[in-house]
Amino acid sequence: MSRTPSGHDVPTIGGSSSSARKVVVLASGGGSNLAALLAAHGKDWFGGRIVAVITDNPAAGAINIAHDAGIACAVVDPRDSESRVEWDRALAETVAVFGPDLVVSAGFMRILGADFLRAFGGRTINTHPALLPSFPGAHGVRDALAHGVKVTGCTVHFVDAGVDTGPIIAQAAVAIQDDDTEESLHERIKVEERRLLVEWVSKLLRRGYTLDGRTLTLGEAG
Ligand code: GRF
Repeated sequence: MSRTPSGHDVPTIGGSSSSARKVVVLASGGGSNLAALLAAHGKDWFGGRIVAVITDNPAAGAINIAHDAGIACAVVDPRDSESRVEWDRALAETVAVFGPDLVVSAGFMRILGADFLRAFGGRTINTHPALLPSFPGAHGVRDALAHGVKVTGCTVHFVDAGVDTGPIIAQAAVAIQDDDTEESLHERIKVEERRLLVEWVSKLLRRGYTLDGRTLTLGEAG
């Protein structure tokens, strides 16, 4: 067991056969991070398999990507819930159906709430298109560009109760070019994001880990 920053005891991945480890991906948009994970999950080195894709957005491109890959897909639309709390509970219940070892938020544009984190805290990770703790929130690329930083990038991190505040797993830097627009910069960041996300999901699945406060220690399993 490990203790999350928010104080919950969570099971630590490790020990059992890594190929059996299950991943649920949360995605709201086009799904290029999902596609990168799916391209890797059949490989021996990946260390697990993606068992389901869950979205909040009935128009998400991620749905088609999941269908094409033959992966179970569910929509948990906030418009079907009476409150944020109810939606969060519905999301947690849907994810629980698939019994994941790891939940990957890959372009999921909603805050995960208390019920979700009670169930999956310490084993839910997210990718963010900026070098946290700089530029958290929904407009990390735009905010970095507007601030005039010369280097930005992406961060893979555990999800906690804050907005992009959880323990950092890995980061990659991307230099900003003079003629960058939000779109051009985001595309270059996404290339790094996909690489980093696949690398670290695989590492967490294969090696297992413990999380002590903000410190991640990889295990030796797998
Ligand atoms: C990624 O940059 C992610 O960090 C951000 O939204 C983008 C999702 O891209 N939150 P995609 O849907 O995986 O292509």
